Amino acid sequence: MRMKTRLRQRASPGLRPAVIFSRPTMKEVSATFISRPALAISGSLQQKSGNLELLRLAAAAAPAGVEVVLSDALRHLPHFDPDLEADGAAAPPAVQAWRQALAASDALLIAAPEYGHSLPGALKNGIDWTIGTGELERKVVAITAAVPGPARGRLGLQALRQTLGAVSARVVGGEPIARGPAFASEVEALLQALVDEARRSPED
Ligand SMILES: Cc1cc2nc3c(=O)[nH]c(=O)nc-3n(C[C@H](O)[C@H](O)[C@H](O)COP(=O)(O)O)c2cc1C
Repeated sequence: MRMKTRLRQRASPGLRPAVIFSRPTMKEVSATFISRPALAISGSLQQKSGNLELLRLAAAAAPAGVEVVLSDALRHLPHFDPDLEADGAAAPPAVQAWRQALAASDALLIAAPEYGHSLPGALKNGIDWTIGTGELERKVVAITAAVPGPARGRLGLQALRQTLGAVSARVVGGEPIARGPAFASEVEALLQALVDEARRSPED
């Protein structure tokens, strides 16, 4: 029997509260699939975003023992500029919070639209802020795009895969998910693939 998903709020330093989808703690869920949250990141900053909807669906469908945390940290980041932390200066608070959220996660689920045949600038900006500090190195990252039809979104995902390659992330998935009858099952399958990869040792 599936457990009912609970919705609660957790404050992140320097950020608006992140929405956290979690499942009730149960004794029999002692062997968690992944021990730390999976961070869900929308490449779209729109309030009415198909990609955000996809992530909400994934969070609600998370297997028992897996916590999916929806992060909106991307919208708070300044444009990437190494001068902002030159000469040992502390990074801006939003950048610190973003890096901490990534470091505290076992895996990422990114759903991003294609803009101008590429990935969204806000998402690229977020990834750029980790190049020097390495929070995405060897991180398991599932990627997809919520699209109106199967022919859409692939160039954006190709560009996202390329950028994640530059930070040595372990990319899972990479196919767009088209709205339609199979939408929910494809989202669940991607989430399961993410969990499976996160449980696997990189040396396997
Ligand atoms: C400025 C702009 C550029 C876009 N460029 C592309 C594109 O190159 N390829 C594509 O398939 N869709 C493109 N789109 C459509 C978006 O990918 C689509 O609206 C997507 O569903 C937005 O995601 P969201 O619903 O999560 O906000 C573009 C949309 C905008 C507003």
